[in-house]
Amino acid sequence: MRQMMVAGNWKMHGSVAFTRDMIQTLTASVTVNEAVTLLVCPPMLYLTQAIQAASNTSLSVGAQNCAQIQTTGAYTGEVSATMLADVGCQYVIIGHSERRALYGETDAVVAEKTKVALAAGVKPIVCVGETLAEREAGQAETIIATQLDAVSKVIGAAGWANAIIAYEPVWAIGTGKTATPEQAQEIHAFIRHQLAKLDAHMAEAITILYGGSVKPDNAVTIFSQPDVDGGLIGGASLNSDDFAKIYAAAVAH
Ligand code: PGA
Repeated sequence: MRQMMVAGNWKMHGSVAFTRDMIQTLTASVTVNEAVTLLVCPPMLYLTQAIQAASNTSLSVGAQNCAQIQTTGAYTGEVSATMLADVGCQYVIIGHSERRALYGETDAVVAEKTKVALAAGVKPIVCVGETLAEREAGQAETIIATQLDAVSKVIGAAGWANAIIAYEPVWAIGTGKTATPEQAQEIHAFIRHQLAKLDAHMAEAITILYGGSVKPDNAVTIFSQPDVDGGLIGGASLNSDDFAKIYAAAVAH
């Protein structure tokens, strides 16, 4: 059985009060099942607060980004993977489509960040996905293969064995347009097939999340697909009721 995960990507939302209340509510109301990791990824500034609030609970905490350089240096405004590990951060989202589109993160940058996260002992959640234009042009698989290959070249099968992948079709993020369960399954199976070329055992074992407008009412059908191992949740992770329902859907699947 593959480990499942439901991860909340708060993006640039939250505050000290929101972080306190959300972690309190989630840890009090959600019974974490070992088979499904429950993760929240607050903005960098609230990470330490979230980690402290979640200590001695089953809730995990991750970051949304890290620097391309692993340790320290003259990189104003950056936070390294080593620093994330230092404060007890267990996971980091790498190469989210917003970072690729708005902050110029290329496939090579995503690969480098994945490598430094692994080296620091922070588990990377590597995001891949096609835009609407790419899907309509029939290029979804080619784009995803290119995104995966760039990372594979740098971390190899052994690196993937310690990573998580999130398939997030760009056209489904924050739009209310979800991929159909069949569309999600098709790409998830494709990702596994690509990775199997490196190592069949790793490909079978890796957790692949779906992200893009996952809500309580569509989570069950998406999570019931054989190659979908949970979700990366944006908007719905900001509402504790919705997020808890999505988590329950993953446990029930
Ligand atoms: P969404 O975002 O659930 O709001 O569509 C998902 C994501 O960007 O990770």
